[in-house]
Amino acid sequence: MGMHEVTYEARDQRALKVCIIGASGKLGRYMVQHALDRGYEVVAVCREKSAGKLEAFEERITVLPGRTDDREVIRRAVAGCDGVLTVLVPWGVHGYSTGTAQAVLDHAPADARLVFSCGWHVARDDQDVYSLKFRAFARVFGAVARLARVVDVRDQEEACRRVFTSDTRWTVVRGSDLEEGESQGLPVWSRHVGDPILASNITRRIDFALFMVEALVDDSLVHEAPAIVGCQAPSALSAGATRQM
Ligand SMILES: NC(=O)c1ccc[n+]([C@@H]2O[C@H](COP(=O)([O-])OP(=O)(O)OC[C@H]3O[C@@H](n4cnc5c(N)ncnc54)[C@H](OP(=O)(O)O)[C@@H]3O)[C@@H](O)[C@H]2O)c1
Repeated sequence: MGMHEVTYEARDQRALKVCIIGASGKLGRYMVQHALDRGYEVVAVCREKSAGKLEAFEERITVLPGRTDDREVIRRAVAGCDGVLTVLVPWGVHGYSTGTAQAVLDHAPADARLVFSCGWHVARDDQDVYSLKFRAFARVFGAVARLARVVDVRDQEEACRRVFTSDTRWTVVRGSDLEEGESQGLPVWSRHVGDPILASNITRRIDFALFMVEALVDDSLVHEAPAIVGCQAPSALSAGATRQM
């Protein structure tokens, strides 16, 4: 039996220890719930002023308050973790996303599974195809948000570029537009934006979180940047029907 198999057997016998960075947001809280449902040990990082949003999980998780790009906070939070789930958000114009991603890449244990969230707007390679309407919207929204100094989408793109070029065991989950509502099940995914299966461009936020948490134990997603869509979205259903014909 090789070393690799021994590691996985040992892992299976105890609960995974998972760090959730950006845990107080909507996606983050769903991920905390999914991780607890699986019996995982959870360490959560969120801004100090948002810690109250995790009250419902009190005594079931460990909360480390702090900015997610604070390298010292991240170093302590990811220590000994089997997996790290990171919500990348392009807030502000001071490289918040990039700082967060870099801190995780630098401090997570070498064999940890790292799963990052972002949106379809982040391209993995030149096989991602965007409609003219999407590109026009992204250009205008990006410029206005940057001018208002609220959001810098380029920061999230740079964060992902660093992840893509790292030699860690990463997955970047690229979300469609999101909606609230009960779970419909694990989203379906494609390697490339523009694939007809994604055309409906809608996923339940709770299922985005499910995909992130499932990715921790799905090694086929290592070094992939799945673009996801709800499994009940019309484009997913019609693609499924076509494949069965
Ligand atoms: N919204 C969409 O339609 C959509 C579509 C595709 C992909 N995504 C991706 O899904 C993920 C979650 O997005 P979401 O829209 O659902 O949001 P969300 O889960 O509510 O998360 C927002 C995160 O941003 C943090 N945040 C808010 N204001 C901040 C500020 N001024 N400075 C620093 N951090 C701040 C929040 O922390 P606090 O709790 O401390 O405020 C929280 O961790 C992101 O990776 C996003 O790119 C979203």
